[in-house]
Amino acid sequence: MSKIDEFEDLAEKVTLKKITRRNLDAVLKLKVKPKQEGLVATNAKSIAQAHFYREAWYRAIYLDDTPIGFVLLVDRTLKYKRIKQKNPALYLWRLMIDEKYQGKGYGRKAVELVINHLKTRPNAKEVTLHHEQTKGNAGEFYERLGFKLTGKILHNELERKLIL
Ligand SMILES: CC(C)(COP(=O)(O)OP(=O)(O)OC[C@H]1O[C@@H](n2cnc3c(N)ncnc32)[C@H](O)[C@@H]1OP(=O)(O)O)[C@@H](O)C(=O)NCCC(=O)NCCS
Repeated sequence: MSKIDEFEDLAEKVTLKKITRRNLDAVLKLKVKPKQEGLVATNAKSIAQAHFYREAWYRAIYLDDTPIGFVLLVDRTLKYKRIKQKNPALYLWRLMIDEKYQGKGYGRKAVELVINHLKTRPNAKEVTLHHEQTKGNAGEFYERLGFKLTGKILHNELERKLIL
């Protein structure tokens, strides 16, 4: 084994895993910092909402064997054969990393995994999102990942797009 392989063996691994009855409680316990509560819905609300949309795709974000975050996408290709132009086919709806695990690069890694997943979807061209404008918003985080402002605002939230 080379030095680099050894290093990679020791590295922590971020993955996206399905939410099941076994890990549901752990995912529901994840929370953002109190001052971030206005920026994203609770995981309980997001998981409940996801059950009403056939186009919802959601996963727990894991660090090795520990759930540390949550992501919910809208993937209209799961529901429709033809996508109407006015609605984004692929949309990043919710994203959170638990307060204890923020600022360590895990959010960035999780979005990179999401982008790799989205690239496998039929006719994947771009992914859209909206984020709050209030203090501590995730705009700069998304900017560094390549999501560009479109100049549009929806319900007071800024729109960004990333070309896949
Ligand atoms: C936004 C969030 C998912 C980022 O996850 P994270 O694991 O803390 O982010 P990372 O450590 O991977 O940061 C990646 C980069 O973004 C920067 N960054 C992260 N959050 C930031 C913020 N709120 N404002 C400015 N920059 C931020 C980091 O400094 C880092 O910069 P670098 O590439 O120069 O090192 C997480 O902070 C979170 O759950 N926030 C509350 C919920 C939220 O706002 N969700 C988004 C809703 S649209």
